[in-house]
Amino acid sequence: MATTDSLTFADRDGSAAGAARGHTGTGRAHGKAILFGEHAVVYGAPALAIPVPRLPVTATATRLPSAGEGADQISFAIAGPGTGSATPVEADDLRHLVAEFKVRAGVTERVCVDVLIDCAIPRGCGLGSSAACARAAVLALGDLFGRRLDARTVFDLVQVSETAAHGRASGIDAIATGATAPLYFRAGLARELPVAMAGEGFPDAARAGAAHPWEFDGLFVIADSGASGSTKEAVEMLRGAFERDPRTKETFVREVAGLTHAALRDLGEGRVDDLGARLTENHRLLRDIGISTERIDTLVETAIAAGGRGAKISGGGLGGCMVALADDPRRAETIAGRLHEAGAVRTWVVPVGRFASYAH
Ligand code: MEV
Repeated sequence: MATTDSLTFADRDGSAAGAARGHTGTGRAHGKAILFGEHAVVYGAPALAIPVPRLPVTATATRLPSAGEGADQISFAIAGPGTGSATPVEADDLRHLVAEFKVRAGVTERVCVDVLIDCAIPRGCGLGSSAACARAAVLALGDLFGRRLDARTVFDLVQVSETAAHGRASGIDAIATGATAPLYFRAGLARELPVAMAGEGFPDAARAGAAHPWEFDGLFVIADSGASGSTKEAVEMLRGAFERDPRTKETFVREVAGLTHAALRDLGEGRVDDLGARLTENHRLLRDIGISTERIDTLVETAIAAGGRGAKISGGGLGGCMVALADDPRRAETIAGRLHEAGAVRTWVVPVGRFASYAH
């Protein structure tokens, strides 16, 4: 899979690689939300996603004193949102990642490290927690061992972990969790779109304005339904259904691809209402193939009734999150409030375009 065509963030890798080799290394990533194309993207359709900078992940890899020979000694601990302390994890996906990191980065020595991941992304929400943890861990290891990893290598390593975690992963999460602008993704190729966004380590929104980004001004309101969903289960469920009924697969993939292409034009031409309507249409397609839940459907209806231009489930589904589009900050706040009243346990607002620096 080629990933470097228009990847623009080879040097914005979230690590301090290049700094003197030391005792610790750090790596950063963040959450993502898929706007269009989840599930269809697994079958080659394009998808659109936004980074969620308000959900940061920081990994710190610390070298341990290694006595003598033997197998590598690697431990992982993750501190999640709201948890004060880090919980040790026995994660095969992260272990695979370290083994592959050694091969790709040419590390031949015995590795004895503790990797602590501070992850603000709730798990099982479709917001990219597994990919973001893997990305931050890869970058922390690269930093610790003094390796500057290019975008392709980071992508491949995150995919090793994602494939172990989810089975079949398209790669969109691996890239979107390190992107600093909305992202168009198809078959392993990604392009960041010139729409201003703001976040720590993001290009300055004011400078981005000077670079004539697309004039799409809106706020995406993300709501956690409070019921987690398994991406692996959802992807496997659809694979089974599509094997039994290939015509449904073809229709689903074709219709979602059409919506995503049209949404890309809406973004380029600043058509907020049209993009919103397509979000709702993509939701209908996902609901019809069994990816939504009653709770998410209620949140989608609530967001639209509160003035959202459109709304849909986002990510792997079978629970998790939904995303709605608002055309101004006050409406975004109203939508978030109504979503809480309707049962959402958390909401986040991701402003883009001239609202990029909007603080909420
Ligand atoms: C998960 O965020 C998106 C899915 O399309 C799976 C994938 O693309 O790997 C459901």
